[in-house]
Amino acid sequence: MKEPARHTVTAALPYANGPLHIGHIAGAYLPADIYVRNLRQRGKEVLFVCGSDEHGAAITMKAMKEGTTPRAIVDKYHALMGQAFQDFGIRFDIYHRTSSELHKRTSQDFFLKLHEQGAFAQQEEQQYYDVDAKQFLADRYIMGTCPTCGNTDAYGDQCEKCGSALSPKDLIDPRSTLSGAKPVLRATTHWYLPMERSQKWMEEWINTGMLDGLPHHDPKEWKASVLGQCNSWLKDGLRPRAMTRDLDWGVPVPLPGAGGKALYVWLDAPIGYISATKQWAMDNTAEWEKWWKSDDSRLVHFIGKDNIVFHCIIFPILLKLHGGYVLPQNVPANEFLNLEGRKISTSRNWAVWLHEYIERWPHRQDELRYALATILPEQKDSEFTWKDFQDKNNNELVSIIGNFVQRVMVLCHKFYGGKAPEAGASTPDDLALWGAVHGSAEEMTRAVDAFRFRDALQTAMNVARAGNKYLSDHEPWKLEKTDPDRTRAILGNSLNVAAVLSAVLEPFLPFTAERLRRMLRIDATPWESALRADRIQPGHVLGQAEHLFKPITDAEIQPEIDRLHANAPVETQPPTAPTSNPQPSKPVITFDDFTKLDLRVGTITAAERVPKADKLLKLTVDLGEAQPRTVVSGIAQHYAPEQLLGQQVVLVANLEPRKMRGVESQGMVLMAEDANGKLVFVQPKDVMVAGADVR
Ligand code: 2FM
Ligand code: ZN
Repeated sequence: MKEPARHTVTAALPYANGPLHIGHIAGAYLPADIYVRNLRQRGKEVLFVCGSDEHGAAITMKAMKEGTTPRAIVDKYHALMGQAFQDFGIRFDIYHRTSSELHKRTSQDFFLKLHEQGAFAQQEEQQYYDVDAKQFLADRYIMGTCPTCGNTDAYGDQCEKCGSALSPKDLIDPRSTLSGAKPVLRATTHWYLPMERSQKWMEEWINTGMLDGLPHHDPKEWKASVLGQCNSWLKDGLRPRAMTRDLDWGVPVPLPGAGGKALYVWLDAPIGYISATKQWAMDNTAEWEKWWKSDDSRLVHFIGKDNIVFHCIIFPILLKLHGGYVLPQNVPANEFLNLEGRKISTSRNWAVWLHEYIERWPHRQDELRYALATILPEQKDSEFTWKDFQDKNNNELVSIIGNFVQRVMVLCHKFYGGKAPEAGASTPDDLALWGAVHGSAEEMTRAVDAFRFRDALQTAMNVARAGNKYLSDHEPWKLEKTDPDRTRAILGNSLNVAAVLSAVLEPFLPFTAERLRRMLRIDATPWESALRADRIQPGHVLGQAEHLFKPITDAEIQPEIDRLHANAPVETQPPTAPTSNPQPSKPVITFDDFTKLDLRVGTITAAERVPKADKLLKLTVDLGEAQPRTVVSGIAQHYAPEQLLGQQVVLVANLEPRKMRGVESQGMVLMAEDANGKLVFVQPKDVMVAGADVR
């Protein structure tokens, strides 16, 4: 595909009916922000739009529950959410709202154009009606039993238990959410989008990436889960869907005789991306159309998995019928984030709310961004725990980034009065350091482009790991006494690695990157120059050394766990199922078969990357035999080589040797997946004798 001229990036417009929690951030906003920040670093032209989704039953039902007006609800939560995004460094170009006049005009014009083109079928239908509440019941106004899974609390538009898309008439034993009453059927007129007319091109577009006979995008770059959901809709056959509702809160249907009718919220909300772009353009005396109407603009929607069909099927149909708009090049939807073994639930107050976090952990936004970025639910649901948050802070932020930067800064102040030393001529060790640093930075951009943000963060961290290894290998704190010239070179190189670190961390930890730049007294600079090995020149005056991160104690973490349990009503919800998909059992084997396996304890004594293989590490494993074993293991995206030295493992020692990327692997290390999809060692708890049998 051709390099796009610009990137139009949207993040799902959250309903303005409650505060934001970590599930929202991990689902759409953090990955989008990481993506946009890195694109900007690389000099790409990007527009990042978002805003509050202020219509629909989600808002009116909340207003009813709180005994207030929808207007009061959206005003309150629009402000709260906008502030939370600001606080966490999610830097949209615009955070707009769908209750604005501009949005009303934009979505009405969009609807009218479709109407004029004959895109809708106007139909009178019998719909459920609540006689007491005097209201037609669509979407969340009606509940009943799901015909697919039997959930008795399914909504009129969707069953949240099994994910089926429903219409009110699919529900068994329907009841009004407003009064609990059994609804009656009454005639009403609506404008339907006959989606079945788009079935053919949609199937082709989703599965081949071809649009109107031309290549549009590469479907291999789309997530399997996204393609899967689209295809399951397509398999059932696209059906007409009403684009209007009998509601007084929403964008009024701009047609004569349509009093009391509003646009369906899932028609109006995605048009909110367009009206947000228009508002941004007005505020910045810029053009809006090129972001939506030029073929060289790359449109990407960041969303959670519950929004897939709306962004991959319904909105693209609307855009294409309207004409003149680009369609999304990718929709990298994330799965869901669980919390401490349970589904995040607003109604059960089982959540970590951003506005509360920021009060209890002021100035520690990056710590949360980091913990979440390591567990983004990119392929399957993942889980946040406070203990993991603490571990990631203490073992990664403090020990890897903090430790490296602190050592370099303190030594430069101690030996050179806070000025950068001369790096001098490079040795093979220095070249190896820069090879690792630049290799990691390149790998990071590849991972970002492929929406693999967890991997991208690991490769960014590998810059700090390479820096730490370089310091530990050369011990400049000792070397200064015997070889001050070489010490200068080591610290000169290390300072420049710290400068690169400030660049590669910026998309993930923007506040830390800024503090690091302040310490180093450097400015943010475009990607190419940020990676230079000689960016910090000899004599450059450094700022004061400060700790970038502080360890978090058990005493600070326990109250968070206690608070969660204290605030949530007694839990009836079953714990979330393990996030891994259990494999079907394999056939029974005999004890003799089992004894054929030679499982032994070993210790990793060396580890290195396998060139041109992103996933492989070459390990040297000591089994207490005359010769250590060479084992090739697919764990490079989970561990940096230097993390593995001394790691005890269980090895299948009698596996037939096999060549991988030219290296003969003489065994296999046993690994298992943890709740967040990270591969962890199947490891003896106590230290074992190398070569010990595992029975
Ligand atoms: O699921 C939600 O929170 C919706 N408000 C998302 C809307 S995304 C877009 F279409 F605006
Ligand atoms: Zn169901």
